[in-house]
Amino acid sequence: MPIPNWATLGYLVAIALFILGIKQLTSAKTALRGNRVAGVGMLVAIGVTLGMLHSGWQYVIPAAAAGTVVGVVVARRVAMTAMPQLVALFNGMGAGAAALIALGDFHRVTAGAHPSLDTIGAVTILLSCLIGGISFSGSLIAFAKLQEWMRGTPITWPLQHEINGVLLAALVGIGVAITLTHGGALLIIVFAAGALTLGVLSVLAVGGADMPVIIALLNSFTGIAAAVTGFVLGNDALIVAGALVGASGSILTMLMSKAMNRPLTNVLFGAFGKLAEGDDGTGGAVHGNIRQTNAEDLAVLLTYAQQVIFVPGYGLAVARAQHEVKELATQLEQRGVRVLYAIHPVAGRMPGHMNVLLAEADVPYSQLKEMDDVNPEFPRTDVALVIGANDVVNPAARNQPGSPIYGMPILNADQAKTVVVLKRSMRPGFAGIENELFYRDNTMMLFGDAKDSLAKLTAEVKLQAAA
Ligand code: TAP
Repeated sequence: MPIPNWATLGYLVAIALFILGIKQLTSAKTALRGNRVAGVGMLVAIGVTLGMLHSGWQYVIPAAAAGTVVGVVVARRVAMTAMPQLVALFNGMGAGAAALIALGDFHRVTAGAHPSLDTIGAVTILLSCLIGGISFSGSLIAFAKLQEWMRGTPITWPLQHEINGVLLAALVGIGVAITLTHGGALLIIVFAAGALTLGVLSVLAVGGADMPVIIALLNSFTGIAAAVTGFVLGNDALIVAGALVGASGSILTMLMSKAMNRPLTNVLFGAFGKLAEGDDGTGGAVHGNIRQTNAEDLAVLLTYAQQVIFVPGYGLAVARAQHEVKELATQLEQRGVRVLYAIHPVAGRMPGHMNVLLAEADVPYSQLKEMDDVNPEFPRTDVALVIGANDVVNPAARNQPGSPIYGMPILNADQAKTVVVLKRSMRPGFAGIENELFYRDNTMMLFGDAKDSLAKLTAEVKLQAAA
């Protein structure tokens, strides 16, 4: 059915708002506004779509209302550390919806006395079903791994990639058969089941900690599936919105792989994080000596410093210590210490993880320094306080060609006069490797949960001020 002019105009407005929203998301200062602008765009698109509805209100309204309630409640309740799995789940829903729309359209054009499935129609429906199906089931596996409902380490078996290749080839074969015969209700069911299976098998092989990259990739798949569905339905807004999601998801995937210094093929097929036989996951024998410190001594060091750089990492998110970090910074600033935050692009487990956490604690944007801007500051810094970060400050990335993180740009915390590392033990981080920084002469360890350590530290700083 042709889309009326008023609706096309409405969709155009929605598309413009999506693009404007994404543009504003590129800067921390305007990101919140960008989110709202894109949200208004989505409201306009939904309003226009509902305005064109001639029948079926009794199904659409309750379904939309239920979706809205679930979305609002879940998004409000989710902990910041659980954001990656929430994104995975929502992404899976979008992909599943795209695949279901394609299946519904297949039924519409093939059932009845006058089937009308042409070649272009068949190809678009099949693509939407294939990509949407893979992204749906893959996202659910990603969710289960991140939520720890299943083993997070890569699940592998012999000939895994070959089996996936054969399955993909079989799906192409079934797709050709459907296109040539212009139908086949049973074939499309087998096709959809095959796409779901491929999604599961592909994501099982990826380690839990690589999931954020996979989610970004699946996100781009969902965008592509939605754009193809837009062609199936002849809906411009869906085509453009899908293309935007597809493009931004692909760009994010590439940026994340690059920042981790790992080709995407290694993320997809490298089974990163799978322990070799005999490996206990501790990253090998501990070498050298470490120096420990305590909150009292460290408080003295910090209050006499001129410049302190906080280096937050995944442990900050685990400990949920963002407010304690801010409190310590405030106390130090009141004593004339200059405080900066060094933000590594892949610190934590999702893009912008540290920015989001620190923004929650109202840390001013001007103090958040990106890697290239902050690295020259380390040599003139008295104390680099590494809070739950590990890989992003590991000098092995610079000087150990055999290391899995070799070549990854890192924060040069080791160049500060003194480095203090807040973590609970000597356990390695995501990459599963030792960190020689912990054994250096200018490094001290403060063991404990980051939130507790920071609270003790702040209390000591306050005590010293009162003394
Ligand atoms: P990691 O290298 O993973 O190290 C985190 C450290 O935090 C651990 O060594 C852990 O040591 C400590 N920790 C955990 N819970 C803690 C707590 N409650 N209190 C204090 N410390 C705690 O983190 P990173 O330096 O942020 O590096 C991120 C890694 O994740 C990189 O290798 C990156 O490639 C990878 N990655 C990132 C992303 C994105 S997009 N950010 C996506 C996928 C993978 P203890 O157990 O001893 O406390």
